[in-house]
Amino acid sequence: MNRVRELIPYFRRYRGRLISGLTSILLSVALGLLTPIVVGRAVDTFVEDPSRRTLLTYAGLLVGITLVQGIFIFLQRLLLVTMSRNIEFDLRNEYFAHLEKLPLSFYQRNYTGDLMARGTNDLQAVRMLCGPAIMYSANTLFTATGALFFMFRIHAGLALLALFTLPLVAVATKVFGQRIHRLFQKVQEQFSAISTNVQENLAGGRVVRAYAQEEAELLRFEKLNTEYVERNRRLIRWTAAFHPLLHGLVGLGFVAVLWYGGGLVARGVITVGQFVTFTFFLSRLVWPMIAIGWVINLVQRGSASLGRILEVLDTVPEIRDEPPLVDGEHIRGAITLDNLSFAWEVDGQPVLSQIDLEVEAGKTVAIVGRTGAGKSTLLSLIPRLADPPEASVFVDGIDVRRFPLTDLRSAVAAVPQETFLFSSTLGENIALGRPEASRSELEAAALAAGLGEEMEGFSNGLDTLVGERGITLSGGQKQRVALARALLKDSPVLLLDDCLSAVDTHTEEQILSNLREIFEERTVLLVSHRISTVKEADLIMVLDEGRVAERGRHDDLVREDGIYADLHHRQLLEEELAAV
Ligand code: GTP
Ligand code: MG
Repeated sequence: MNRVRELIPYFRRYRGRLISGLTSILLSVALGLLTPIVVGRAVDTFVEDPSRRTLLTYAGLLVGITLVQGIFIFLQRLLLVTMSRNIEFDLRNEYFAHLEKLPLSFYQRNYTGDLMARGTNDLQAVRMLCGPAIMYSANTLFTATGALFFMFRIHAGLALLALFTLPLVAVATKVFGQRIHRLFQKVQEQFSAISTNVQENLAGGRVVRAYAQEEAELLRFEKLNTEYVERNRRLIRWTAAFHPLLHGLVGLGFVAVLWYGGGLVARGVITVGQFVTFTFFLSRLVWPMIAIGWVINLVQRGSASLGRILEVLDTVPEIRDEPPLVDGEHIRGAITLDNLSFAWEVDGQPVLSQIDLEVEAGKTVAIVGRTGAGKSTLLSLIPRLADPPEASVFVDGIDVRRFPLTDLRSAVAAVPQETFLFSSTLGENIALGRPEASRSELEAAALAAGLGEEMEGFSNGLDTLVGERGITLSGGQKQRVALARALLKDSPVLLLDDCLSAVDTHTEEQILSNLREIFEERTVLLVSHRISTVKEADLIMVLDEGRVAERGRHDDLVREDGIYADLHHRQLLEEELAAV
């Protein structure tokens, strides 16, 4: 709850709007409170002088007041709701910018759906806290103070009677509001369960059909759908009961006031006009009372949501620039691993143990090893996607942790094992790391990555849409797009993690021979399960359970008769069998 205070800096930015908004509320309430007085006066005057002129004068006065009041109501909404939208805008940008900074490990600990919910539903709740909650509480405060002041002036006993019944409305709104909100959330949860189910069934349609699971899926869907209706029914029962109850309570207050007030008028304690004024004030209080209950719920929800957003904003990115930093604009690309050991979790099993490696700028080193040997882990440490221990990974002889992250990451172009393409055009996907690249540079990169045929074949060439709303690329095509993306980045270090595994051996060899010139100019770390891919490398390192098992050039390793030689023999045999 006290974290609501952390919103103050946001409000400060829009101080002008806030102050003029509150002033508008004050003025609109003041004018609103004038109406009952004018009506009261009108009644009393009319009783004595029932002329057309009196009627017109008062009617004109009322219309005038209402018009001016309307302007201020318009202004308060305009100013305060816009302010809340601005704060929402700022918070949303900050939230997204922060998410961009958080490392992979954060996303392994948190569900995507939950992070999305914080950025959408929770942010909405905070906005309600910043705009409507402030607007309604100010309205309530001003109206209640003013109305009660006048009501007590008319007759203290009658005012006390009103004070006794009205807060019940606030209590009912709070209790019902809370309950209704909880039920509404349950409905929403069920709705997202349904959406997720439908989304998975549409996306995974091939699997569902291939396993003949249509019936089972239908049944599952029907169950989800029934539960959705059931939850809605529960919600409807409460909302349906709420409105009559509210009217009942308000009505009760009025009956009490009519009964007691009527007596007062009959005995001549107050005039008819005063009594009319009083009931008008009373009706002015109904909405603020409902608002109190509502505002309390808004504040509770908003502060809980704010807590959830701040929790993410408070997460300090583990991987960040830690001064003193060294300028990294002219990285040449020599890579050194010095006794590198690494575990994914603190106190976890080491995935890499005591690895030493020296790669001069411009050389190509291949890494092979069984699945789970730690190859991808090793590559991820170089651009600090995961943080290596101090003084174990060096680029140009400088600890990677000393470079500004942006410098380091622009010096490294990595093709990850799992390709991810955005739902945009082929060209935009390739240009990810260098959006300013020219058309011919894009084409050159695509060509080098072996996408020549695709560029010709697709009707729109590089402008072809890929992903959900465009064409579906094959596994091998996706990998080549990812490769083109890395080539275009034109960085001194190139990390290729099994990046042509879905491409047939023949095509892969062609692509690699295209790339030979590019490889000459860069430091390349190449992971592959195929001997044909790695055999030309300046050095081949064989990893086994996180340790360097063998290292050398192809011919030496084949002679060594170890893991590499074994792999080589088996792949030769496979090739021969395939040729038969
Ligand atoms: P292949 O790609 O299958 O050939 O294996 P690899 O040699 O690339 O193995 P990798 O480096 O991906 O994995 C080595 C070990 O680290 C495995 O036991 C994985 O379970 C573990 N590992 C890999 N990535 C992560 C990660 O992001 N988080 C955690 N906690 N563990 C990981
Ligand atoms: Mg891997």
